[in-house]
Amino acid sequence: MTTIINGVTTAQDIKDEIAEKVKIIKAQGGKTPHLAAILVGDDGASQAYVGGKVKACEFVGFRSTLKTLDADISEQELLEVVDQLNEDPDIDGYIVQLPLPRHISAKTVTERILPEKDVDGFHPVNVGRMVKNLPAYVSATPFGIMQLLDRYQIETEGKHCVVIGRSDIVGTPMAILLSRKSNPGNCTVTICHSRTGNLKELTLQADIVIAALGIPEFLTGDMVKQGAVVIDVGITRVPDETKPRGYALKGDVKYDEVEPKASFITPVPGGVGPMTIASLLHNTLLASQKAIYD
Ligand code: GUN
Repeated sequence: MTTIINGVTTAQDIKDEIAEKVKIIKAQGGKTPHLAAILVGDDGASQAYVGGKVKACEFVGFRSTLKTLDADISEQELLEVVDQLNEDPDIDGYIVQLPLPRHISAKTVTERILPEKDVDGFHPVNVGRMVKNLPAYVSATPFGIMQLLDRYQIETEGKHCVVIGRSDIVGTPMAILLSRKSNPGNCTVTICHSRTGNLKELTLQADIVIAALGIPEFLTGDMVKQGAVVIDVGITRVPDETKPRGYALKGDVKYDEVEPKASFITPVPGGVGPMTIASLLHNTLLASQKAIYD
């Protein structure tokens, strides 16, 4: 029997818990948490993500501020907006939605964000603190996956986890978190990537597979062991004339083939995706409470 992990209801549980905490903070006269987002340009997917983040803030009782900037804004002008948010004492945390237009360096912009306001957990200081197991904002996707493993009580100790993809915001932190002496954690982790020669051999050994490479339907049924836990991080818009919007959302897992073999699996959409917003709210609450940096 396969358990389909429901990211929508799990994210809703987390949002309900946060809303409850915010109610108490407000009743005690505390500061209303305030998240800001910078959106550059008019990419449809980015607009949808940021819209979802603003809506989630409303739900949990946070303040939110959205700064929308033209795609042709200069890097310098964007850095000035970042500086304003760094200096604004009411803003507890903020994000700069990625990807940015090609003429702007995401690295330069990310490094300009004050680490204590970097609720995406992308700044090198937060990444470094996370690696050293110091209090840090953990980036949204790995944190969300840890929450799913925890809340579905998935056994991870002593398991072999294969992470496919080595990005600095998903694959690499995921591998670090799962190898840590913790629960969830205590896994033996293998990180695979585009140059891994014996990928199928490795995925077939995996008790847990985390597919985070961004290639639709990459992980097929013949690559997965019976009873494996399969976490699908991918979400790609694939052209599909039969859909009202002209595209279908595809994960990195060939769901129809893998689902019958899995003990647990996250669907796309409705698996990992909704958890990322819940993680961002979690980090923003920590920021407003000065729980990571005082
Ligand atoms: N683009 C896609 N996902 C994310 C995210 O989690 N944070 C930011 N800033 N941009 C993204």
